[in-house]
Formats: sequence, structure tokens, C-alpha cells
Amino acid sequence: MNILIIGGGGREHVITKYIARNPKVSKIYALPGNGGISQFAECVKISAEDIDGIVSFAATHAIDFAIVAPDDPLAMGAVDRLEAEGVKCFGPEKSAAQIESSKVFAKELMTKYGIPTAGYKVFTETDKALSYAALSDCPIVIKADGLAKGKGVTVAENFQQARDAIMSCMRDKSFGKSGERILIEECLTGPEVTVLAFTDGKTIIPMVSSMDHKRAYDGNKGPNTGGMGVIAPNPHYTPEIANECMTRIFAPTIAAMNSEGRTFKGCLYFGLMLTPEGPKVIEYNCRFGDPEAEAVLPLMESDLLDVMMAVRDERLAEVPVKFREGASCCVVCASSGYPGSYLTGYPIDLGDAGNIPGVDVFHAGTKLEGGRLLTSGGRVLAVNAVADDLPTAREMAYDAVGRITFEGMRYRSDIGAF
Ligand code: AMP
Ligand code: GLY
Repeated sequence: MNILIIGGGGREHVITKYIARNPKVSKIYALPGNGGISQFAECVKISAEDIDGIVSFAATHAIDFAIVAPDDPLAMGAVDRLEAEGVKCFGPEKSAAQIESSKVFAKELMTKYGIPTAGYKVFTETDKALSYAALSDCPIVIKADGLAKGKGVTVAENFQQARDAIMSCMRDKSFGKSGERILIEECLTGPEVTVLAFTDGKTIIPMVSSMDHKRAYDGNKGPNTGGMGVIAPNPHYTPEIANECMTRIFAPTIAAMNSEGRTFKGCLYFGLMLTPEGPKVIEYNCRFGDPEAEAVLPLMESDLLDVMMAVRDERLAEVPVKFREGASCCVVCASSGYPGSYLTGYPIDLGDAGNIPGVDVFHAGTKLEGGRLLTSGGRVLAVNAVADDLPTAREMAYDAVGRITFEGMRYRSDIGAF
């Protein structure tokens, strides 16, 4: 089979690694891929957001199956376009991807179908948003409606911060069209859990739970990022909570999307908060999380491509989806300055980090140039270790990180520490 993978981060690296293991696979192309993915796939310089480019590449390369991993091409309808050309895909169609690309859509869905989430109000006018914020008890949460590369959310501790966030979204248009409409939400409290789930619209199978570390610095300080590290499973997510989530959140979400005529097929990401009143949805994503995928997929024992093809063909109930016991700890190595501005193009020395058994060095923002591995993004590497328990996985991940160097490398030292 010829496989096409859209995207070029750590998530696409881990997906490619496990897809490459399937004996049916003869060739993998990645658009655009990265330095690590090139070990398993031919990387072609077509952006993940160039939908015309992707469709014409697929049409001329006899692609049997495509995996659309990032949010932007899903929101732009890459799956609809590829399927229309006869290319089978893993990933939701545009109408279903709206569960992530419009937070207002997701909120209205949850309200209509009684799925627990934070209270909210929608604003399209700056003045009205400001007066509402002025009358609210802080903390409150300000969110851009559309996609904002994980940076569209501010948890405002006081009115000043709320005002700055509203002005930045609505007046300064920091997130372009994505921030023309905003939500102001009630601030929930409690441990956060990510659950990724395979679903074909009929069956939903949650993967091992995980815990992202979104803030930039140790002790959960600093600005939100795309994610600085992950552990899996999430120690707060008990079997009782998992049952409650299935009954009150996961199954109702799939049913709600079907009722709306937007059947969701792919990986649905549930960002949950375990509040004193029970689990509530913070956000949905229409794809694997990054770096959650780098911690969760190495624990999967079943064949990833077989599961993805079963999702596409709506026969998920017929395939095994098994995860091993044990734990993952994934530490992100970032460029100095991330999530703000940063420089790229520095040589990366991986040392012997990749040779430690149980450790994977997934490439997030790297490129190969003239045989040299260089930094090319804010999040550069996602170093994951799998072991029988979390403390061992943690020790192995940090041992590996200690062997890696590049100019300005920065990472959190408290991933998985309690
Ligand atoms: P999101 O991009 O929606 O995942 O939001 C980023 C982060 O902001 C989440 O992981 C939470 O830590 C925080 N957050 C978002 N919404 C809320 C909320 N309603 N209450 C408390 N924290 C929130
Ligand atoms: N790590 C959070 C996300 O992928 O959205």
C-alpha cells in the first residue's frame, strides 16, 4: 500500500513510525514531513495547508490511504477533497472538524445535548464583551472562537488581564478572523485529563488517558503553549471516572454529531477537567493531540494502520484496540523564547539518546539540510520513554534529554512530577 501522511510535527513522526511497521505498507509519503519522519517516509515540500497541492499529489502517486493529522487541513476540508478523488482517509470531514475549529459550535452542541461543560457567553462586539467582563467575578476565561495554534485562550485572574485578552482578540485581531467572535467562560477547577478516542461514528474506543503540561515553565507557570510534555496514563483518571465519561460525555458526543448530520470519523480528542461536580469538557479537538500522541501511541499494542482503516470503513467494532500496561513520559525540548518568538537553524546533537531501549526521540520542529539536522520550530523534539511504571519512564526520558544539545534548548524539568 502507498500511504500519505499530512503534517510535519512530533505527532506525525510517531504516527509514521507505527504505520511503517504494518507489512502491507510499501511506501510512505509525508507532506511536508520533517527530519525524523524522513527515516520512514519520502518527505515532499508541500505544506499541510496547501489542499490543492495535496490533492494533486495524491492523484499522481497512487495513494491507497491518507492520514490527515493536523487541525488546519481538517478544518479546510482536506478529507472531503481527497475522498472525492477516491482516496480513502483517516480523519473527519470538514463539517465534523468544526467541533474543534469553532468553539462556539462545540459549546452550542454541548448545551443542546446536555454534555457537561463550563458556562459561557458569546460576543461579537468589543464593548459588550468588556462590560460583561467588568461585571464578572474573576478568574474568567477568554477564548477566540476559531483556531489559534493553541494560543487563543487566556485564563484571566483579574479584569486587567481579561481586558487585554479581549482587546488583543477583537480590536488588534491577533488571531485574525479566528478572534472576531469570542467566548467568555466560567473558570473551572480540578485536574485536567486528555482522552483520545478512535471513533467511526458507531463505536467509540478511548485510548489510554494522558496529562498534557500546557504551561511554558515548571510549576505550571508562564504562558500556554502547544504542550511541553505528557504522561500517560493520567493518574487522576480512575476506572469509575472513565465509566462516567463514557456515559455522560463520549457516547453522547458521538450521538450528538450523528444527530446533527456531522458523523465524526477519526480521532476525537476530549480535553476534560475533573471538577468537584464531575468531569466536564474544556475542549474538543478533531485529531490526535501533540504531544499526547507521542506518549499514547507507543503504549498501543494493536496495529495502528489496521485500526485507522477500520475507522474509515466503519468497522471499528471488528478490530482489536489494545494498550499495554505501564506508563509513558514525554518531555518536549523547545527553542529558547517559545511560545514567543525564537530563532531556528541551529544544529542538533542527539548524542546516543535514540539508542536507549524504550526511548523514542520524536522530531517536532527539525529539518535535514545537507545531511545536518537543524532546528526549524518552537517545539523541536518530543522525547518519550515507556516503562513499567511512571517514575522509571520519567527517569529514562530525562536521562535521554540530558544527552541532547542544541543552542537555546529549553525544557520543563517537572513533567510527571507530583
Ligand atoms: P484550550 O485551548 O481550550 O484547551 O484551553 C487551554 C487551557 O486553558 C486548558 O488546557 C485549560 O488549562 C485552560 N482552560 C480553558 N478553558 C477553561 C475553563 N473554562 N476553566 C478553566 N481553565 C480553562
Ligand atoms: N496538546 C494539545 C493539543 O494538541 O491541542
